[in-house]
Amino acid sequence: MVSRSETSVGNWKLKRKIYISFFTLIVLGIGTYLYINQREVPIEQVFPGKIWAKPIENLPDLKGVGAPTAKNCGNCHTEIYEEWKRSTHANALSDIQFQSELAKPSSPKWICLNCHIPVQNQRETIITGLKNGNYFRPVEVPNPHFNPDMKQEGVTCATCHVRVDSESKESYVIGSVGGTTPPHPVKIDRKRLFDRCYDCHNETYTLNESLVCSFQTGSELNATQSKESCSSCHQPEVRRSFVKSSLNKPVRTSHKHGFIGGGVPKTFDLYHDQIRLGYKPGIVLSNIKVQNGSIEITLTNANASHHVTTGDPERFYRLDLVGLDSKGNQVFHAEKKIGQEWAWSPVAKKVSDERIPFQKSFVWKLKESDSPVVSYVFQAVHVRLKNKTSDYMILSSGYVSSPYKEQVEKMKDLYPHSSIIIESSYQLKTKFRKDTALEDLFQRNALRKGE
Ligand code: HEC
Ligand code: HEC
Ligand code: HEC
Ligand code: HEC
Ligand code: HEC
Repeated sequence: MVSRSETSVGNWKLKRKIYISFFTLIVLGIGTYLYINQREVPIEQVFPGKIWAKPIENLPDLKGVGAPTAKNCGNCHTEIYEEWKRSTHANALSDIQFQSELAKPSSPKWICLNCHIPVQNQRETIITGLKNGNYFRPVEVPNPHFNPDMKQEGVTCATCHVRVDSESKESYVIGSVGGTTPPHPVKIDRKRLFDRCYDCHNETYTLNESLVCSFQTGSELNATQSKESCSSCHQPEVRRSFVKSSLNKPVRTSHKHGFIGGGVPKTFDLYHDQIRLGYKPGIVLSNIKVQNGSIEITLTNANASHHVTTGDPERFYRLDLVGLDSKGNQVFHAEKKIGQEWAWSPVAKKVSDERIPFQKSFVWKLKESDSPVVSYVFQAVHVRLKNKTSDYMILSSGYVSSPYKEQVEKMKDLYPHSSIIIESSYQLKTKFRKDTALEDLFQRNALRKGE
């Protein structure tokens, strides 16, 4: 028989046990949660083998040069610096479209910056790991070697040319020639310089449902029988001294550093330099044929050992055909897009791909107009940014901070969206074809706005 008081003591003991276990469980739960949630996971573990997951380590001052900034290299390599300064590489941070996309809450900013400002000296902070392996939660500590001038230099000279010697811990320059007499340490490694392009231009990685990058330019080149490297076309040869003339160095085979690509530069004033720095269209208009009520326009990728377009999946060529009557009035218009189509939700997926591989042709077939056309004008326009996309960027400029915010708001006026690459008029009666010179087209491109 148990008295009431004994029962309540027993109950109380039992309750106390339950409370303690419950409490311990909660503490353990919170502890485990905090541990998992706050634990710092190394970047290598989250992105194994990915070069772009980390910037190039902090570079100490280079003997004979000082801080390894492009500006300092430019003190002697004046022409190369002047060319590079006009390149997309030099604009990889200041690019208005980049700033707009970077500011989106969905962008894991540190990853974007790893390819657009790839040297640790260009970054305010060092990322030591990711909380719980989550790429939206980088653990950052201040970088004592941050160089604000270098930050603005985008894909700066040191990205390709400067590394730290693992033994001496000193910076050296990677060169490609040899037999030169630089005031700075140099190691000749051509292959390493050439292969460097692939680190950024040949990467496909799906981070989450929205894609980070799908650049296959390297694989496209490898799939052809071409023996060319990226540099053989994008860094054309020029005979000159590597440095300013006051240093009295011999004239050698040098390479332009404008890295010209699709002919749509980042600002309107750069149009004037595209051809000088080596721009060449990849596609040529190999034939216009009007016969038996049908029109056939043939474009061939004759000059680019990769697809046209390549790189960013949003790019495309727009083909425009306008028919004119005897008074010069437009009586016919047709349009066709050559590029990739992607569906972005629920998962990013390529739906179609009509781009032109190396040495292949694309034939645009259409019915001849019923209107009294006497001549046709054909245009191929390389589009980098659609009007619809820049409209959207302007609408969401609230995410961007000054000074880029003001630039995004005015991007219709500040940012080239497209360039006319080919223009040709064709007289039906005489079958006479006249192509507009590239120089004339680029003068007009500098004044055009939008898609
Ligand atoms: C004080 C002048 C000076 C500065 C500053 C300078 N260089 Fe040089 N560099 C030279 C000279 C001189 C040569 C040799 C030219 C020759 O002998 O024809 C050279 C050669 C080179 C070469 C070619 C080496 C080879 O044999 O392939 C590379 C690449 C190079 N420099 C990169 C850089 C980079 C990158 C920077 C900035 C981080 C830089 N240089 C800064 C003077 C300079
Ligand atoms: C660290 C990453 C990185 C490396 C390495 C790199 N690039 Fe780039 N490259 C970029 C980025 C980023 C852009 C685009 C910047 C933008 O549009 O804002 C670019 C743009 C270009 C363009 C311009 C395309 C156009 O139409 O404007 C060409 C051409 C190019 N790179 C060629 C090369 C070549 C050749 C090499 C190797 C010698 C190379 N790149 C190495 C990151 C890199
Ligand atoms: C995207 C990578 C990349 C960047 C950025 C870059 N270079 Fe180069 N550079 C190369 C490659 C590749 C070569 C070798 C080209 C060849 O031999 O065909 C080269 C060659 C050189 C040479 C040897 C001479 C010549 O003209 O071939 C010098 C000097 C040089 N670069 C200096 C610079 C300087 C200075 C900067 C910045 C203002 C710079 N480079 C930016 C990739 C780059
Ligand atoms: C045989 C010459 C050649 C080689 C080799 C070559 N390219 Fe190109 N590339 C071109 C030409 C020409 C264009 C312009 C195509 C056009 O828009 O009509 C171009 C365009 C580009 C563009 C701009 C694409 C666009 O659609 O806006 C990039 C980026 C580029 N190339 C990167 C590379 C890289 C990276 C490599 C090496 C993996 C490489 N290229 C190798 C000739 C070449
Ligand atoms: C693996 C390296 C890499 C990473 C990571 C990367 N980019 Fe780029 N980005 C490039 C290269 C290379 C180009 C130039 C591609 C070309 O011209 O074919 C480029 C071009 C661009 C352009 C210009 C497109 C155009 O058509 O002119 C924008 C905008 C951009 N990147 C935004 C971003 C954002 C935002 C992120 C992060 C979410 C990011 N990038 C991450 C390498 C990278």
